[in-house]
Amino acid sequence: MRKRIVAGNWKMNKTPKEGVELAKEINAKVGQLKDHSVEVILGTPYIHLMDVAKSVNPAYIKVAAQNCAAWSHGAYTGEVSAEMIRLAGAEYVILGHSERRKYFHENGEILNAKVIMALENMLKPIFCCGEVLEERNAGKHFEIVKTQLEEGIFDLPEEDFKEIVIAYEPVWAIGTGVNASPEQAQEMHHFIRQEVAKKYGKAIADETSILYGGSCKPSNAKELFSNEDVDGGLIGGASLNADDFLGIITAF
Ligand code: PGA
Repeated sequence: MRKRIVAGNWKMNKTPKEGVELAKEINAKVGQLKDHSVEVILGTPYIHLMDVAKSVNPAYIKVAAQNCAAWSHGAYTGEVSAEMIRLAGAEYVILGHSERRKYFHENGEILNAKVIMALENMLKPIFCCGEVLEERNAGKHFEIVKTQLEEGIFDLPEEDFKEIVIAYEPVWAIGTGVNASPEQAQEMHHFIRQEVAKKYGKAIADETSILYGGSCKPSNAKELFSNEDVDGGLIGGASLNADDFLGIITAF
């Protein structure tokens, strides 16, 4: 059965000290749960990674970076390699987030290089896709998401693709308080799974975790996660508070 996952994306929030405090609080609360079948991931800023990784029980909380370099090493001032991230204790890396696409002009080609670099260094990519509002209003959302998947991850060999987690994040829902309706989420997740099946076969598609992201919170997580093709969430704002985050982890 495919994994159910709740991943926090802290973005550029929390000082290193606050980050460790939050991680410890989440760790303590998750530790008390009877059921640890949901994979919990904390996506922290780079400089928090090592300390956060040491502050959580790796049996039930994993750590993710929010980006990685497209190159292995060398003269790339300001960049952080996938190898460094892996050795800092991360198991995952969020790639292709809409904020990276928008503010840092990351396109399909760059993201594909990052995905490959992550996989070479045994980091599992959480690959984000999603349309902006104008694209949805123009009825182009399926086409946009399909192109993002084709450019970013659909050229991977089967063995590598199995490591991928997909996050559907409609850009109009990110940080806006307006989440996709459960029907809209299910419709797109089903479409994504069908596209994965066309490319890699039904068995692999059935094992691929597809997360929903965009204004997901304790009050709407249950109705979003109860859909057949929604395997969890990528959580921004609500991952910065331990109780809210726990409310989402326990919403299945
Ligand atoms: P949000 O962000 O939960 O604050 O809408 C989600 C994301 O950007 O991953």
